Amino acid sequence: MPALSNTSHRKPMVGQDLDALVTPAQGDWPRYTTPLRLGVMASGSGSNFEALFAATQQHLDATIEVLVVNNPGCGAQLRAERLGVDCIVHDHRQYTNREDLDSALVSTFEAAQVEGVVMAGWMRIVTPVLIGAYQGRLINIHPSLLPSFRGLDAVGQALKAGVRLTGCTAHIVTAEVDTGPVIAQAAVPVMDNDDHQSLSERIHRQEHRILPWAVALKGRDWKAQG
Ligand code: GRF
Repeated sequence: MPALSNTSHRKPMVGQDLDALVTPAQGDWPRYTTPLRLGVMASGSGSNFEALFAATQQHLDATIEVLVVNNPGCGAQLRAERLGVDCIVHDHRQYTNREDLDSALVSTFEAAQVEGVVMAGWMRIVTPVLIGAYQGRLINIHPSLLPSFRGLDAVGQALKAGVRLTGCTAHIVTAEVDTGPVIAQAAVPVMDNDDHQSLSERIHRQEHRILPWAVALKGRDWKAQG
């Protein structure tokens, strides 16, 4: 048996330039018989919405038919205006309960004849009204490697726990928050000098990669179901 090279252990196990491990990572971007019609929901800055839009201009065979926001004037709405995407405001403060808000969302998406809906930073809990109308066709992006760090401030939770790897997850939405079937994940290293902002930014960059990819993968199933 040849002797192990004693230089091998001097190589770093993980290079500092390693951005993320994405999985599933193999496969071509699918083309469909007709472009996938998408609805998108966002509450905040909307960087995931814009990444999704950018993907539709390149390798994602889809169109964003409508963006729904719940915070008038939020970054996502401003991005939609700049990108020329229809944007509807359903301000949650105008609805007496979560179900009524979700009914309004369903009406908007049905009118736009979307085949799937993407929660791209939607900061409200959704109800069976929306989940049932788009069963298996509602995708969420969450800034952790689920099932770790569900719920609010997943990045803060990861920093507090002292994990060396965290990441992001695109998953199907089911009744219990942040628990539905995983579609794609990116594992992101936590660096020694990371703070909340630097780690959030590194995770965000990966969200922008895996969310369009997850939509493309599920789109195949949605098209097959008709
Ligand atoms: C993302 O971190 C996403 O994981 C979470 O909300 C954030 C939205 O960011 N659900 P942005 O508005 O897309 O920039």
